[in-house]
Formats: sequence, structure tokens, C-alpha cells
Amino acid sequence: MIRLDGVGQVFDGREGQVTALEEIDLHVRPGEFVTLIGRSGCGKSTLLRLIAGLLPPTYGEVRVADEPVTRPRRDVSFMFQRPALLPWRSVLSNVMLPVEIEGDKGRAAYRDRAHELLELVGLKGFEGRLPHELSGGMQQRVSLCRSLIRDPQVMLMDEPFSALDALTRTELSGELQRIKMELSTTIVFVTHSIEEAVVLADRVVVLTPRPGRVREVVDIDIPRPRSLGRNAHLTEVAEISGLLHGLLAEKEARPVDEVRP
Ligand SMILES: Nc1ncnc2c1ncn2[C@@H]1O[C@H](COP(=O)(O)OP(=O)(O)O)[C@@H](O)[C@H]1O
Ligand SMILES: [Mg+2]
Repeated sequence: MIRLDGVGQVFDGREGQVTALEEIDLHVRPGEFVTLIGRSGCGKSTLLRLIAGLLPPTYGEVRVADEPVTRPRRDVSFMFQRPALLPWRSVLSNVMLPVEIEGDKGRAAYRDRAHELLELVGLKGFEGRLPHELSGGMQQRVSLCRSLIRDPQVMLMDEPFSALDALTRTELSGELQRIKMELSTTIVFVTHSIEEAVVLADRVVVLTPRPGRVREVVDIDIPRPRSLGRNAHLTEVAEISGLLHGLLAEKEARPVDEVRP
């Protein structure tokens, strides 16, 4: 579904050039949930912007659904750390926003879908509220519904739960997994929480510090549903998290076997 081949990104900064990403090869299968971890500044957001078509790569090729990415696609949605809702619009009309850009075609069906999605994330009855009447977690749920309204093939999520408290974060990661199972959307999710990366992912991609390269790709075979909170698979999650900690902490790349606890 997503392919990056030999991708690099060099920015012209004030103090000369900054290599953000180097020789990235990454293939994401349809319906796969990939999480991306790495130190701050290692190019995670840049990688998502490349896939989203918001930024052309300096070199290499980015493809989505077998087509080169040259501009944002309508079947790829992006969700950020902050909900970015329009404050004067109701919950429902914030969710409907991406649809309005396309005019009236199929508006009624989308409206039904918006209600369904809001119910799915526990916001039934809040359709007419304004964003400031909602908690941070509820606002981010609205943002999640908005990024799902056009039934995207690919969802790119840049630390979407980072600003939330631990309990809300746990709830939302559970809801996201349920939605994912229902919709079979392909997801690339950036987080700085190692546990969250493990709990959500089919595969965790570890990037090296700047410039970002793929350090390791770790398959997560723990049965679903998984939870950040009460967890039937605590030992497995802890063990893999420990391994990932080791990979993130190291200064020089070592074989994974040496890092394993
Ligand atoms: N538009 C830009 N112009 C110049 N440098 C940038 C730009 N965007 C990102 N960078 C630099 O590229 C590196 C990677 O940034 P980013 O992708 O935001 O990292 P992350 O999301 O992993 O924290 C950083 O050093 C950042 O300063
Ligand atoms: Mg970032």
C-alpha cells in the first residue's frame, strides 16, 4: 500500500543543509498497522509528510497504492497531535468538513456515517456541541472521526494521543484498534511512547537519530485486542519494549541479538 524506496530528505536550514532522512526503504502492506519511533528530530514527521504528499522527497521514490505520490491524495488522511477543530463549528460539522470540499455529492450518506463514527467513539449526543465544550480527549475523538469520514485507505497519525492524560490515551488506543479491525485501513502511527508503539502495531519501525534511517523493524505477534492498561500480555509487551528501549538508547548500531534482554 505504501512504498518508500531509497528515500532521502535534505532541508536548507539557516545554518546550512540538514539531512533529515537518509536511504529509507519501507514497505507497508494493505491493512497493516505500522508504528514509527525514534528520537525527537529524527525525521518521523517528515516521513509522514512525504507519504502524505505534503513534501516532495529530495531523492528516492514514494508510492501509495502503486502510484507515485506527487500531491495529497483524497484517500489518505492525516491526524495531528492537536485536534485543530474549527471553534465556531459544531462537532458534527467539524467531522463533515473534509466532505464539504467536495460539494453536495453523497452528503446525506456522509452525514449518516458521521453519526455512526461519533457513536463508535462514544460521542453520541454531542453532535451539536462546540469544541470548547469538550475535553481534550473528546476533541481528539472528533478529530479521529473527521479523519475517517471519507473512509481513507491510509491514515497517517503524528503523535495523536501525546497531549492526552494516561487514561484517555489508553481508552483511545483501544478505540483505534477496534476501528482499525472494522475498517482495515492501513495506518502509519508516530509515537514517542514505546509501550503505545508495541500495543498498537503489527510492526514497529525504529529510526536512528538524525539523520533518520531505518535501524530495525520489529514484528509484534502479540494476540489482539491488546490494551495499554489492563493487559493480558504484560510480559510480552514489557519484553519487546525493553528491546526497543535498548535500540533507541544506543549510540551505535549493534545486532539486535545483542540488545535482546
Ligand atoms: N521545513 C523544514 N526546514 C528545515 N528543516 C526542517 C524542516 N522540517 C524539519 N526539519 C528538520 O528536519 C529534522 C527532522 O524533523 P522532524 O521530521 O520534525 O522530526 P521528528 O518528527 O522526528 O521530531 C529536524 O532536524 C528538523 O529541524
Ligand atoms: Mg514530529
